[in-house]
Amino acid sequence: MLKFVSAIAMAASLVACGPTEAPSTHVDAFSPRVSDLLERMTLEEKLGQLHQAAGGRSRNLNSRLTDDELDRVRRGGVGSYLHVAGAEPLAELQRVAVEESRLGIPLLFAMDVVHGYRTIFPVPIAMASTWDESDWEAATRISAEEASASGLHWTFAPMVDIARDPRWGRIVEGGGSDPYLGARMAAAQVAGYQGEDLAQADTILATAKHFGAYGVPTGGRDYGTADLSERSLYEIYLPPFYAASRAGAGSMMTAFNDIAGVPSTANETLIDGTLRGRWGFDGMIVSDWNAVAELINHGVADNRAEAGALALRAGVDMDMTSSVFVNDLRVAIEADPELLDDLDLAVGRILTAKEQLGLFDDPMAYHQTARETSELLAQDHRALARAVSTRSMVLLKNEADALPLGEGAGRVAVIGALATDAWTQLGSWRAQGRPEDVITLLDGLEAGAPEGVDVLHAIGADPADDDLSGIAEAVALAESADRVVLVVGEGYDMSGEARSRSDLFMPASQRALADAIFETGKPVIVILVTGRPLAIPDLAERADAILNAWMLGVEAGPALADIVYGEVSPSGRLPVSFPRTTGAVPYSYSEFPSGRPADPDLDRDTNRYHDQPITPLYPFGHGLSYSDFSYGELVAQNDAAGIRLSVDVTNTGDREADEVVQLYMRDPLAFVARPQLELRGYRRITLMPGEQRTVHFHLIPAQSAIFERPGSWRIEAGELLFHVGSSSADLRSSASVHVESGGTSEVPATAIETRTEVE
Ligand code: BGC
Repeated sequence: MLKFVSAIAMAASLVACGPTEAPSTHVDAFSPRVSDLLERMTLEEKLGQLHQAAGGRSRNLNSRLTDDELDRVRRGGVGSYLHVAGAEPLAELQRVAVEESRLGIPLLFAMDVVHGYRTIFPVPIAMASTWDESDWEAATRISAEEASASGLHWTFAPMVDIARDPRWGRIVEGGGSDPYLGARMAAAQVAGYQGEDLAQADTILATAKHFGAYGVPTGGRDYGTADLSERSLYEIYLPPFYAASRAGAGSMMTAFNDIAGVPSTANETLIDGTLRGRWGFDGMIVSDWNAVAELINHGVADNRAEAGALALRAGVDMDMTSSVFVNDLRVAIEADPELLDDLDLAVGRILTAKEQLGLFDDPMAYHQTARETSELLAQDHRALARAVSTRSMVLLKNEADALPLGEGAGRVAVIGALATDAWTQLGSWRAQGRPEDVITLLDGLEAGAPEGVDVLHAIGADPADDDLSGIAEAVALAESADRVVLVVGEGYDMSGEARSRSDLFMPASQRALADAIFETGKPVIVILVTGRPLAIPDLAERADAILNAWMLGVEAGPALADIVYGEVSPSGRLPVSFPRTTGAVPYSYSEFPSGRPADPDLDRDTNRYHDQPITPLYPFGHGLSYSDFSYGELVAQNDAAGIRLSVDVTNTGDREADEVVQLYMRDPLAFVARPQLELRGYRRITLMPGEQRTVHFHLIPAQSAIFERPGSWRIEAGELLFHVGSSSADLRSSASVHVESGGTSEVPATAIETRTEVE
């Protein structure tokens, strides 16, 4: 009743104030400065703050705006621009906002700085393959330093969508298939972008996206429905968002798609209920590109005003580019003045983000052109890109030590158009990356070649077309060489947004090229260039070695040379399984066991395929090394301090190498079926030949908690099995512990970090 009365009172005051003034509610929820602004803003100015306008989607970022656009800024008609860049042009824009608009509210400048700004790092799925939090944090720190030097305050990253279906092209943009790994990567990236203090001029606001289940569209088709169980949503897809929220992410973006019919941009239960209500997320929420207007296409809003009301009520603060909030919300508010409440909250959150970035105190802090000149593509940034790239590559196969190539490897025919394709190395979100900054795979292999290695090149075939006319020349070159480095896979525009594929084999031209090269009988080392796991059974069978190089960014070539010539031992690990065939996806190592577990050897009615083994071609966590590691016994104890596990790992090979020690959990008996294995910890260690180190894992009982309902996870009494090893399919030692019932937990189990120590 009270609510009703206040709604009427507000409607009356809205009319009394005239159409341009908006009485404020919620002023107490914000800082004095933000509250004061909220009191003074007109309705038009409030709606303007919710509007994010596009500076331009092309590579020539349109940061110098037209006079009309500048007038809009003077009127307070826009809160943020995306796809803009440049310390100097943005300084002028900011100056107009701060000096020539009535309230002097600064603008927010945003861009998708996803895997680098000018110094482009490996694509996120490759970054995930490092299993290294310091790499994730350091790369995003550098990205933030460069982006902020170019006038940017806000990135739409990290993308934390868990993805188990490689048909979905955006699998390239995230941390892979596992909620634990994904949650760790999300938190580390937020820390890197945002640094210690958002008010520093070299930090930018991070955005965890796309809340909540964008990575599981039906059929792998981008933008499609996520029709998933509540358990999967809370146990698999939401934990990385929780981890990002706990790490202090300043913003989140809602997904384009719907979950079981409820578009995420209008999902009040999930945004207001779970994200803000239960998790206490108090940052800013932005819709995805035009997604507010697209609520009409979803069929949940009849018109733009209704679409705006739905999104605002659900908890979306800023409208990316659809202009619904700025142009159409007024009609919705006149019909339902209670929306004024939501409006004030949204404006307050946007102003708070600006305040946290220090923009009210020093709006020009992000526009020091000298910093822009010195920081972009700085030498130490490139050096980190090279080091991270070496740790991103995953050695899938290495028969008879085909790699590394040492002195005396002779004539090496590097074959494939991707060997010289700089654009592809820049990957899916290249921000300000330029092809001329990239050292290509071929350039790297040539420059790094040791004595006695002669590098030759033929294009053979390009993944972008079906032209096979170059294959004959490539075959002739291969025949004249001692061995072949065959660079095949996908070009950059085969993965990424709206780049879903129904077929996970390599493009036809790449398969034809590979077949022809294998026919020569020469030793073949495959360098796989890809943004997604591909089905590569032929390569797996016929190649001597396969190095999955993903797309590596500006230092692709030198990093590849480091691995191929043995300067560095490969240490990347798959963050997602590679399938044998398209029909086997989506797949995960952590499926439930089934009442009729798959028995691949018996022709029985079990949970298997009749035409394929059910195992992946290369499993989650897989990645070979040039060295070997032995594992001691996994020692477990459980006491008041929690669950402690430790294992000795020894480098039994004859060279320095990194191992990624992986800890998996299995709850064999519970009130619901539990996954066959769940990653619960990992640690990358460097070991000299013969060196042994002990890795300790510390867990708490809440890490075994099972989702019961939103906000309640049950910690059951009973036995837990732990396995430690080199991949999800290469477990070396096991131990069990008994856990007492610990009641319930509110925290998603996979979002809790396992502390590790190395001795
Ligand atoms: C993507 C988002 C991105 C936005 C702005 C959308 O199409 O889905 O991930 O942040 O564009 O570029």
